[in-house]
Parts: sequence; C-alpha cells; structure tokens
Amino acid sequence: MASNQFLTLNSGHKMPIIGLGTWQASDEEVEAAIDVALEAGYRHIDTAPIYRNEKAIGRVLKRWLDAGKVKREELFIVTKLPPTANRASDVAATIKKSLADLQLDYVDIYLIHTPISVLTNEDGTIKLDSEGIMEPDLTSDITTTWTEMEKVVANGQAKSIGVSNFDQEQLERVLKIAKIRPATNQFEHHVYLQQRDLVDFCKAQGIVVTAYSPLGSKGIAKYNAVVGLVRDLPDLMDIPDVKQIAAAHGKTPAQVLLRWIIDRDIVVIPKSTNPERLKQNLDVFDFKLTAEESAKLSKLDQNFRVCDFSLLRGCERHPEFRFKNQYTK
Ligand SMILES: NC(=O)c1ccc[n+]([C@@H]2O[C@H](COP(=O)([O-])OP(=O)(O)OC[C@H]3O[C@@H](n4cnc5c(N)ncnc54)[C@H](OP(=O)(O)O)[C@@H]3O)[C@@H](O)[C@H]2O)c1
Repeated sequence: MASNQFLTLNSGHKMPIIGLGTWQASDEEVEAAIDVALEAGYRHIDTAPIYRNEKAIGRVLKRWLDAGKVKREELFIVTKLPPTANRASDVAATIKKSLADLQLDYVDIYLIHTPISVLTNEDGTIKLDSEGIMEPDLTSDITTTWTEMEKVVANGQAKSIGVSNFDQEQLERVLKIAKIRPATNQFEHHVYLQQRDLVDFCKAQGIVVTAYSPLGSKGIAKYNAVVGLVRDLPDLMDIPDVKQIAAAHGKTPAQVLLRWIIDRDIVVIPKSTNPERLKQNLDVFDFKLTAEESAKLSKLDQNFRVCDFSLLRGCERHPEFRFKNQYTK
C-alpha cells in the first residue's frame, strides 16, 4: 500500500484517504458489505442518520470489535447531524442517538450534514405540506449549531468535527466564530464537478476535502425514479478518456476516477455493496497516473452536480441552499 493512505486532520487525528460510502444501501446490503469491506482492509466508514443504516452498521462493528478482529482506534467512523436536527438545541440528543445506534462511545468525525435545516413533526419525520414539499426551518443558524458541535468534542463523543455541503461563504462564517476549526468539508467532487475554488479554499484553511459521489453516484438514478424525478445523468465510468486511461494501466474506470482524486490529497468515499467492486475501489495504489493523463481528467470539468438535493423537495427555499444554479427538476 502507498504511504498516502491517511491524511492528517487539523485536529491531529489521521483519516484514511479511502472510506466506504453507505448511502442507498439497505440494512441487509450494508451488513454484508461492511463485513466484506473490513475483511478487505477498509477502516473508514461514512454513514448518516438519513441513510437509515446506522443500526445495521453498528451490529457489524460490534461483532468485529467483540471478536477482537479490529481495535476501535483502528476504525474511522463518520456520521452526521441531519438537516432535520440542524439546530443547536438538537445536537446533543442527535449524536447520542447515533452513538447508541452505532453501538460506539465516540465517532471519529461528526459532520453538519447540510447547511440547510428542515422542520420536523413530533416523531422526527420531515414536515411536509399538502403537496409533499418540506418546510425549511428559517430559525436555525449554522454558527450556533457549530458552537454546540464543539461541545461534542469536549465531552468525548467525537474526536473531530466538520461540515458537509458548505460553500466558502458558509465556511467563512463558521471559521469566524470557531474555537475548533472544521476538520473536513464533505462535498460532491468528481471529474464532472471539480469545484476547484472551494477545494483550494479548504486546503488553504487546513480543512481536508472529502469527495462524495466520487464515481458520479450512478445509483441515484434508481433513487430519483422512486420519487418521480427524471434527470439525464452522465456515467463517468463511460467517458472515453477515462476508459482509455484505465485500459492503458490495466485498471477499471472507477479506479482511475478515484486515483485522480486521491492524487490531490482529497479523501474519497465511494459506495459499493458489491464485494468485487468495493475491493476494486480500495485497490488503487499500484499504478500512477501520468501528468498528461491527470491533466486530461482535470479538463473534463462540466460543473455538473449529480446530488443536487432535489430529492428533498422544497430545500431550495432555505436561505442556506446554494445549489440553485445547477438545480434541475
Ligand atoms: N454528505 C452528503 O450530502 C453526501 C451526499 C451523497 C453521498 N454521500 C456519501 O458519499 C458516498 C458515495 O457517494 P454516492 O453513493 O452518491 O456515489 P458513488 O460512490 O459515486 O457511486 C456509487 C455507485 O457506483 C457504483 N459503483 C461503486 N463502485 C463501482 C465500481 N468499481 N465500478 C462500477 N460501479 C461502481 C455503486 O453500485 P454498487 O453498490 O452496485 O457497486 C453505486 O451505484 C455515499 O454513499 C455517502 O456515504 C454524502
């Protein structure tokens, strides 16, 4: 394995540069996948309450920890404060619930999932109007939420804290009041949506970038269809340049897409529940992209956002929603 398997966060903790994404994976799928992933060498797992699989992940982790097959300090577990609880008053109870579901005493990093916040019913479900459109919570404030997030580190429930889906201006507001700086900003990043300004800003501030949907989130099409959302989504693994570079190295297009991101010291969290594919996504250190190949991939940027949150109908009404320019419906 290459020496760049970990990046050091501004909190001093080390984060494995490849993690396993778990969105859109059912309990059964995720339980089987985490077993295979841990066996294959994954130690970093990305989840969130809105993926509804923390309990299943917790069951596998407990089995591995109880059997002594892995030590807690070898794992890097990421979970998130959901948009349904994105307010200072909900942080303490929400992390407590995630830790109980994951059967852990602490997570390695706790992220504010989105800068937007939505109203909930008493049972915690998203409050929808008669047309099924969610109501934004206009009272929430990312800076007061951040101050509450800092307490999670102080009381030992998370080793580090960070954000997700924040743009530069939102990060600047947090940085102004932060006693603990965000350790990572997790946002969509792949050859078709490179967000170079945001990447550069994060790096200049010592904030590690975590690239979500690094393979273009192919599975989102199926998910979109469930809510009747039809979008023409590109298949990044079918881009001729990507396929040609992959063939030249005897690797797959997915491996090329991941290696290109990792080479920029950006963490990747590809999701797969398929044993062969998830192993493949970890096996990216035995080849090197040439400067020419890397430049070719960098030229593919289309500013094309796949994960535009259109599944959360109504979120564009929140003042912190920043994906408007690419919003497609
Ligand atoms: N913070 C946020 O708001 C946010 C938003 C989106 C995602 N995320 C996180 O980022 C993770 C990754 O993003 P994502 O799930 O959107 O998309 P992704 O990782 O870019 O793509 C996953 C899709 O690619 C397929 N795939 C995986 N490896 C492959 C390979 N080697 N060859 C061919 N196909 C492959 C998967 O299918 P199979 O499973 O069948 O292999 C799945 O359909 C998520 O799971 C989640 O943990 C966070």
